[in-house]
Amino acid sequence: MKLNIALLAGDGIGPEVIDQAVKVSDAIAEKFNHEINWKPALTGAAAIDAVGEPYPDETHDICMASDAVLFGAIGHPRFDNDPSAKVRPEQGLLKMRKKLGLFANVRPTFTFPSLLDKSPLKRERIEGTDLVFLRELTGGIYFGEKGRRDEGETAFDNCVYTRAEVQRLAKKGFELAMTRDKKLCCVDKANVLETSRLWRETVQAMEKDYPEVEVSYEFVDAVAMRLVQWPNSYDVLITENLFGDILTDEASVISGSMGLMPSASLGSDIGLFEPIHGSYPQATGLNIANPMATVLSAAMMFENFGLQEEGKAIRDAVNSALEQGIVTEDLSENGKSYGTSEVGDWLAKNI
Ligand code: IPM
Ligand code: MN
Repeated sequence: MKLNIALLAGDGIGPEVIDQAVKVSDAIAEKFNHEINWKPALTGAAAIDAVGEPYPDETHDICMASDAVLFGAIGHPRFDNDPSAKVRPEQGLLKMRKKLGLFANVRPTFTFPSLLDKSPLKRERIEGTDLVFLRELTGGIYFGEKGRRDEGETAFDNCVYTRAEVQRLAKKGFELAMTRDKKLCCVDKANVLETSRLWRETVQAMEKDYPEVEVSYEFVDAVAMRLVQWPNSYDVLITENLFGDILTDEASVISGSMGLMPSASLGSDIGLFEPIHGSYPQATGLNIANPMATVLSAAMMFENFGLQEEGKAIRDAVNSALEQGIVTEDLSENGKSYGTSEVGDWLAKNI
């Protein structure tokens, strides 16, 4: 297969972890006879510095002309403590999601047998955990009208959803559940929020189309609690943008390190694949960041092209590395660890 992949490394550790995913993907291309044409483009603080815009039109054009986007991370501390900043790296990510129509953010949480004792939760609580969040990504409070009133004394962010937005996300959730354990949990706050009542009503109306799927409805606060008590009781969870942002960070550490969890953002023909973690500014340039989440995001990218074997080859290499202790310092045993690029080299060699 001939693949054009836009490569958006972004900020902080983004370029370092992206380099490893490229090495591993190139090894896959060689082994399975594909041709990957990488198209680097600017995003985030790096793009603000270069052209004053976190998601420049040129970057959008490159993404639109590609089959998929592989994304590192964005964010820079110089913006975090400056509430008055007019342009922020994060705006680039939101604009990109919207302009590429990526309304469904797929965020799996699974455990690795060799890392069960690395989790902050007890082994017996997490064994067998294999769940997927489908987070709505282009609506809700992230995109509703926002602003200030009363000479800046009052601030507001509106949460808005349409039935159609809920339906298209829920449809993906039902379809995904059909390929898995056929359990779907709709996460909302329907005891308080009108948008949540629209979610619940919409999902309830869709149940009849998927009679095999067992659907549950849970409040977001209860899910936050059950996620750390019985994560292995969940299969597919669907939820709105902000709840999904928070719960997927919570879920991401269950496996032992946030540096392990990949994600996909889907909705149009062009999918975007990125690690769940952020730009980890303190580690920039130190060759210590865990590249596995980005490498596994590349696995999701291949799988999304229907290239299951390629995805599995990457997952197998990651599992072997974990079993053999070829890991960065976040996962090191007895002080022994490898650099970001050494882990990448090892994975590429073991494809
Ligand atoms: C994420 C991030 C983003 C989000 C930020 C960087 C805008 O936290 O992808 O989860 O909140 O969606
Ligand atoms: Mn987040």
